[in-house]
Amino acid sequence: MADHISIGLMGLGVVGTGVAIAVQEQAETLSQRIGTPVRIERALVRDVRTRREGISEDLSLTENPDDILKNPKIILVIEAMGGEHPAYDYILAAITAGKHVVTANKEVMAKHGPALLQAAADKGVMLRFEASVGGGIPIIGPLLDDLAANDISAVNAIINGTTNYMITRMASEGIDYAAALREAQALGYAEPDSAADVDGTDAAFKLAILASLAFRTIVSDTDVFREGIRRLAPEDFHYAEELGYVIKLLATARRTDGRVLARVHPAFLPASQPLAKVDGVYNAIELEGDLVDWAMFQGPGAGARPTASAILADVVAIGRAIINSAGVPQAPPLDQALVIETLDDLETKYYIRLRASDQPGVMAQVTQVLGDLNVGLASVIQKEVGENGQTAEIVITTHVARESAVQQALTHLMALDSVNEVSNLIRVEERIA
Ligand SMILES: NC(=O)c1ccc[n+]([C@@H]2O[C@H](COP(=O)([O-])OP(=O)(O)OC[C@H]3O[C@@H](n4cnc5c(N)ncnc54)[C@H](OP(=O)(O)O)[C@@H]3O)[C@@H](O)[C@H]2O)c1
Repeated sequence: MADHISIGLMGLGVVGTGVAIAVQEQAETLSQRIGTPVRIERALVRDVRTRREGISEDLSLTENPDDILKNPKIILVIEAMGGEHPAYDYILAAITAGKHVVTANKEVMAKHGPALLQAAADKGVMLRFEASVGGGIPIIGPLLDDLAANDISAVNAIINGTTNYMITRMASEGIDYAAALREAQALGYAEPDSAADVDGTDAAFKLAILASLAFRTIVSDTDVFREGIRRLAPEDFHYAEELGYVIKLLATARRTDGRVLARVHPAFLPASQPLAKVDGVYNAIELEGDLVDWAMFQGPGAGARPTASAILADVVAIGRAIINSAGVPQAPPLDQALVIETLDDLETKYYIRLRASDQPGVMAQVTQVLGDLNVGLASVIQKEVGENGQTAEIVITTHVARESAVQQALTHLMALDSVNEVSNLIRVEERIA
């Protein structure tokens, strides 16, 4: 056994740099907690000539993955490159070469997690991924270990900091989607290509990971319904407040009677709920379990130091297992046979905002369409809008209804001559703890 643990670091961007700096800063602490020092042997980058602020000159950089994957001294690989390929291929190659792996990569874990975990188990190495969801928030550990005695029935989360920042600003400042996005990009919270955030893909990856672990089944990213925040308008925030709600990009998965429904979309949450109060770039994850009842984990969902905190916790866990020669703990099998439901099966309340001609009888037509499909009205707000008062904005909230019926109702509403547009439909979630 060497006198230290040699690490290969793949990626030296926001996260990788945070890890490299934290390994230096926390060298003493890590050594104490593990029982032996850790050292980054090589770091893989795309371009070794890039100037890297804060990185020690002693750190040996390479553009060749084999300098890590085929290096017998390196027993632990940290993957912090991002993207599906080649990150997935390198993780698999590291496992196949008998190296332990820590990854921050939600896309790889959402798409290939079960296969990679199986490969790691077959090879007798550990694959840990605390940083893949919620940045610095401990959530994978609690799901795998601390709450292991529970049957988890629901995961409700705000797990995309970019959109939560934008939504928070839209609510507090009354700005529109485009202005909120510009602001998030100027502050570095949103990438120049923000599609993965604003369209809900990033949150769907994370929810797939959480739901798989929570329900001990395989929920892949394609099983998660997703709808982003592009359609949210200042009016929606205004009506939400008037009705006592807060809008959030909700990631939620629920297990009911052997079925799982996982979805990411904007939602009205009652303003008094804990998740409704999670603002800005913060993330939070709520779990419902039969023993614990309810637990919420909240903190910074991204950033160099919080993410390094999660990655190094995994390094400590692996380091301890290596030092203690205690055998390598593996994640529990994801073998529960659950049926993945589609959104059509959802039953919840809805907010519908539409524009119609401001004429007598229009409201009666709208309520008739909804009533025919058993969509009951809980409240109606009607306001005159437009220059000459010929258009009315109608805002409806419904009682609990079936998604398929509501979607059918929207199609019928759009076909009415008197309805100019259905401006938005937002699900109202009152079941969230
Ligand atoms: N940013 C966060 O706050 C955060 C939080 C939690 C999880 N994560 C996850 O952590 C991962 C990394 O994110 P990041 O923000 O640190 O990304 P980033 O800043 O874009 O850094 C990516 C790094 O990987 C290197 N890289 C990328 N592709 C490569 C390839 N094919 N070969 C060699 N090197 C390659 C890049 O090299 P060059 O420097 O030479 O370009 C760069 O150093 C992602 O999976 C992300 O989802 C990020």
